[in-house]
Amino acid sequence: MIAGFQASLPVKVSFADGAVGELPGILAGRRVLVVVEEPVADIPAVAEAIEGFEAYAKPPGEPTFDLIADAAAAVERARPEVVVGIGGGSALDLAKAARLVAGQGESFERFCDGEIEVLPPAVDLVAVPTTSGTGSEVSGGAVVVDHVERRKRGVAHPLMRAQHALVDPLLTVGLPPDATAYTGVDALAQAIGGVIASNGNVLSTAIGLEACRHIAAGLEPAVRDGGDLDARHELSLGSLMAGLAMNLSDCCADHALGHSIGSTYGLPHGLTVGLVLAETLDVNRPACGPQLDQVADALGEPRDRSGDGVAGVRAVRRLLARARIPTMRGAGVGDEQIGRLVELSMADYCLTVNPREWTEDDVRRAYADALALEGR
Ligand SMILES: NC(=O)c1ccc[n+]([C@@H]2O[C@H](COP(=O)([O-])OP(=O)(O)OC[C@H]3O[C@@H](n4cnc5c(N)ncnc54)[C@H](O)[C@@H]3O)[C@@H](O)[C@H]2O)c1
Repeated sequence: MIAGFQASLPVKVSFADGAVGELPGILAGRRVLVVVEEPVADIPAVAEAIEGFEAYAKPPGEPTFDLIADAAAAVERARPEVVVGIGGGSALDLAKAARLVAGQGESFERFCDGEIEVLPPAVDLVAVPTTSGTGSEVSGGAVVVDHVERRKRGVAHPLMRAQHALVDPLLTVGLPPDATAYTGVDALAQAIGGVIASNGNVLSTAIGLEACRHIAAGLEPAVRDGGDLDARHELSLGSLMAGLAMNLSDCCADHALGHSIGSTYGLPHGLTVGLVLAETLDVNRPACGPQLDQVADALGEPRDRSGDGVAGVRAVRRLLARARIPTMRGAGVGDEQIGRLVELSMADYCLTVNPREWTEDDVRRAYADALALEGR
């Protein structure tokens, strides 16, 4: 029997080498503000596409409340008809959050607190990803690092999605190997979330599994050789599809535990997810063994027909090793703040859509397993 579900994914997508070149045509005759950060603005195809448009120069780092307020003020000053976000998830989320705040005149924090309803925006959003990881170009989410509470927070609403996503694999060619690995693993976790999350459905499963196939094909070769265009295509498509899967479901314990590491240690988002992905899946196995076996198939792992999901976890471990994701200790995360990490994880939204409910003991076990790894 197929469980009932609802889905709404109205983002127009252009996926092609050179898709960023569509930008001047899309923006012609409209007032525009481009949100972009330094290394990305220097990519020749980006520089050419945004030439002549007003730009907000995003500083390095993930969005904070202050940064969102600053970018929103720039949106208010520029009064654009279209906001364009170009970059990794941080730039795309900043563009989304700034458009929301400027449009409704409320702080992003109040949206995070659930005090303000998200209304239909008056300003269009075009999203151009330059990493292959977050799927933010098709998601309705925007994530912020709350430096006061020292945790990651966010707002997710279908009305926050971009109207048009331009996914151009050529823009990712210069992404360094580490960033390629981290963002690719983020996409992998989101793709698997589409298959195992408790709020998933047949569409998120189908798209998530197909995303796994593309990510498995592209991750290791793109990390080894950033100029491998076939690998960049696979990763870009896998990331886009994982973003769609995530919009039909969500991310699970890997993101809850990863967010906690990220806000505590200031490590890149995808890396934090990779540090705990296999271990959280292993703790989840009793609740989603058959689904993890489907993931194993999609990742090209020989089937053992056990139905217990061991093959899926093994396949993920293999990919993490090939992408050269360090261990938790190798990344500088020890057990000195474990109490804080557990507390943050238990309060994270992503645990609420996990294949089964987690106790503090489950969180502790996943962290302990990740800390016990001596190598990949
Ligand atoms: N909204 C969502 O649906 C969603 C989903 C997952 C994660 N996120 C958030 O997205 C953020 C992480 O995004 P990310 O992993 O894409 O990293 P990022 O946006 O933080 O970028 C990482 C670094 O790579 C640089 N960079 C980006 N593209 C480049 C390119 N083509 N060449 C050279 N350098 C490039 C950036 O300037 C930055 O220094 C986090 O804040 C995370 O919480 C959002």
